[in-house]
Amino acid sequence: MKHKTGFNRSITKNWRLPTKLLRAGTWRSELGETSEAIFMTSGYAYEAAEDAADRFAGVQDGYTYSRLRNPSNAMLEERLAMIEGAETCRATASGMAAVAAAILCQVRTGDHVVSGKALFGSCRWIIDNLLPRYGVETTLVDGRDLDAWARAVKPNTKVFFLESPANPTLDIVDIAAVCRIAKAAGARVVVDNVFATPLLQRPLEMGADIVVYSTTKHIDGQGRCLGGAILCSNAFLADPLLPYLRNTGPTQSPFNAWVLLKGMETLDLRVERMCANAARAADFLAAQPKLQKVMYPGRKDHPQHDLAMRQMGGVGGSILVFHVPEGRAQAFALLNALQMVDISNNIGDAKSLMTHPASTTHQGLTAAARAELGIGEGMLRLSVGLEHPDDLIEDLGQALAKVGLGG
Ligand SMILES: Cc1ncc(COP(=O)(O)O)c(C=O)c1O
Repeated sequence: MKHKTGFNRSITKNWRLPTKLLRAGTWRSELGETSEAIFMTSGYAYEAAEDAADRFAGVQDGYTYSRLRNPSNAMLEERLAMIEGAETCRATASGMAAVAAAILCQVRTGDHVVSGKALFGSCRWIIDNLLPRYGVETTLVDGRDLDAWARAVKPNTKVFFLESPANPTLDIVDIAAVCRIAKAAGARVVVDNVFATPLLQRPLEMGADIVVYSTTKHIDGQGRCLGGAILCSNAFLADPLLPYLRNTGPTQSPFNAWVLLKGMETLDLRVERMCANAARAADFLAAQPKLQKVMYPGRKDHPQHDLAMRQMGGVGGSILVFHVPEGRAQAFALLNALQMVDISNNIGDAKSLMTHPASTTHQGLTAAARAELGIGEGMLRLSVGLEHPDDLIEDLGQALAKVGLGG
């Protein structure tokens, strides 16, 4: 059977990346549609009562209910797994649903989780607030400090969690080294790979056990829908992930799965252009004498540039941060002076977006926690899109000039 009519990994595994992004996981109905179908159905009808019983018993292949599986979701999951080099994948309703499921499914009261402290605000909330509520101990470490990871290990440590690059500090964690520490401790490693995308960084190859995405970001990449994904081994899926997902239901909408499949078709083209534009924008901002530090993993002045280049295929990503000297009022004035770049807290979008993390994505952290991470009142995060880089730089330049920060 050709790949055209069903999943067939033996054919798809040798395809190059752009081909996989377009075609891996495609499943065609008997109508032969070229664009993947949206199976917008909650349930499935059976020929006979015995078929229903057999499907529930797992002795007959087939779908039973879309909280458990859905063909549009299955196509997306297969494509994501092929890109990541994972045995399997499950799509979720949002990135946070993926992060929560990947951690919660495997811990119980009395367990211990170690996490890098530089995290997206909601990820930090899970570590700081949700897990302790259920008697799961947590330790936050400076993810850049390998000794801190090793020192944090306890006999009950079950999970390491990290983002690299982290949102919004752009701290880099040495994923392979942290995975070695976790392995020695008998803990699993969950990596939130949102900032790097599966194109720049593949944590499973570095020893991670589970990779999570907000597919809302680069994978949709056009500001249309929310989604998430968990990539892991078949064994982890079978137990503990699948029972958690089936019974708690953080399921992806099939419509969103279809949008995300369309997004994947152009992911490599978009990410390549966005990263090239981000490098240009970072150089432009770094050359502005009145701005404080610009952080971009692709620039040599990023303190972990060498590690970032090693882990991210020599590319710095599409997101950068910089600091204005006079705090929130000046940061807001700069945002308000932008004529093209949108004020928006999303990332990975085709449109360039800028946000003030202290008052948006990281507002939920205490002021002390933000200060410890270097998320100051003057920090701005820029997610670079697909506009012509000269237009982006012109917009940044005119906004800087308007608030007295022009060169
Ligand atoms: C690093 C990171 N992880 C997870 C999420 C959560 O994703 P979602 O908004 O799709 O729930 C985000 C952004 O929102 C993020 O930046």
